[in-house]
Amino acid sequence: MDLVSILTVLLVAATSAVNACPPSDRAALLAFRAALHEPYLGIFNSWTGNDCCHNWYGVSCDPMTRRVADINLRGESEDPIFEKAHRTGFMTGSISPAICRLNRLSSIIIADWKGISGEIPRCITRLPFLRILDLIGNKISGDIPADIGNLRRLTVLNVADNLISGTIPPSIAGLSSLMHLDLRNNRISGEVPRDIGRLTMLSRALLSRNQLTGPIPSSISNIYRLADLDLSLNKISGPLPDVFRKMPVLATLNLDCNKISGNLPPSIINSGISILNLSQNAIGGKIPDAFGPRSYFTALDLSHNNLKGSIPKSIAMASFIGHLDLSHNHLCGPIPAGSPFDHLEASSFLYNDCLCGKPLRAC
Ligand SMILES: *[C@@H]1O[C@H](CO)[C@@H](O)[C@H](O)[C@H]1NC(C)=O
Repeated sequence: MDLVSILTVLLVAATSAVNACPPSDRAALLAFRAALHEPYLGIFNSWTGNDCCHNWYGVSCDPMTRRVADINLRGESEDPIFEKAHRTGFMTGSISPAICRLNRLSSIIIADWKGISGEIPRCITRLPFLRILDLIGNKISGDIPADIGNLRRLTVLNVADNLISGTIPPSIAGLSSLMHLDLRNNRISGEVPRDIGRLTMLSRALLSRNQLTGPIPSSISNIYRLADLDLSLNKISGPLPDVFRKMPVLATLNLDCNKISGNLPPSIINSGISILNLSQNAIGGKIPDAFGPRSYFTALDLSHNNLKGSIPKSIAMASFIGHLDLSHNHLCGPIPAGSPFDHLEASSFLYNDCLCGKPLRAC
């Protein structure tokens, strides 16, 4: 070989070495893959060759450092690989702690594979750059790592639709960047951490279908970006905190199927909340006479409680009530007339003590 050829070969080798992922990242990915079994689609068939940054399905790297930055493996996707197979993904096995050797990871999305079991590797709390942890729709068990609060950059924590047990670690309140928390449909017990209000970036807190007990922490009023709070289908008890005036963007509040008692705070009726479900609790007292122009409900469900007295006249002042359910309470007296009511059917008012007037029988 002449000198020019040798130099060319060296140059090509050097360039590809610079562009390839580090062998340690490649080895960590292969160890991660070894703990998983994906029988139908062959998504891991692309994980060959030295450069794990190039065409490895679901892997992407930082273009500057060539370190693995994202693992994005979704079992439900419109990727051609799924269309060709005419099926959604299925994978068994577990998430190997080898994933933690990829210490430049910014996102871990291993979602909707239905069969991945085992625990969340404890070591993930030592991934300093992690922003997204999305493990929805698997069979992951064990608890949320106690020191999850170390992940100061975490914006999304989604472990919904798994078999997670244990309690919500108090350290979660230290996730100062968290915007989206989804723990729905697991087996999580214990109380919502009292200082959850420290999560001031949070906009969605979805905790329904667990076994949570104790009260709704009044510190939630500090989360002024909170738009969606879902604690439905738990064992939450105690009264509703009177904090809703302080929560300017709260639009959806689902607390149905709990053990909430006490009275309805007036602020819940005349805030910006547009979907309010308090069905199947033990809420007593009267419906506050506090409806006004800010009351705009696409759905207002107060059914299956212990509400007494009459339907307040101010309810006719609401700007809009799309779906109303006051059934299964102890309400009495005439149903107010007014535009929010014109379209409602009898089912909205059935099973009370003595409600009357349109759409029920005349008073
Ligand atoms: C409110 O919650 C109850 C119980 O979970 C459910 O049956 C009902 O459909 C919900 N109401 C609305 C309007 O979504």
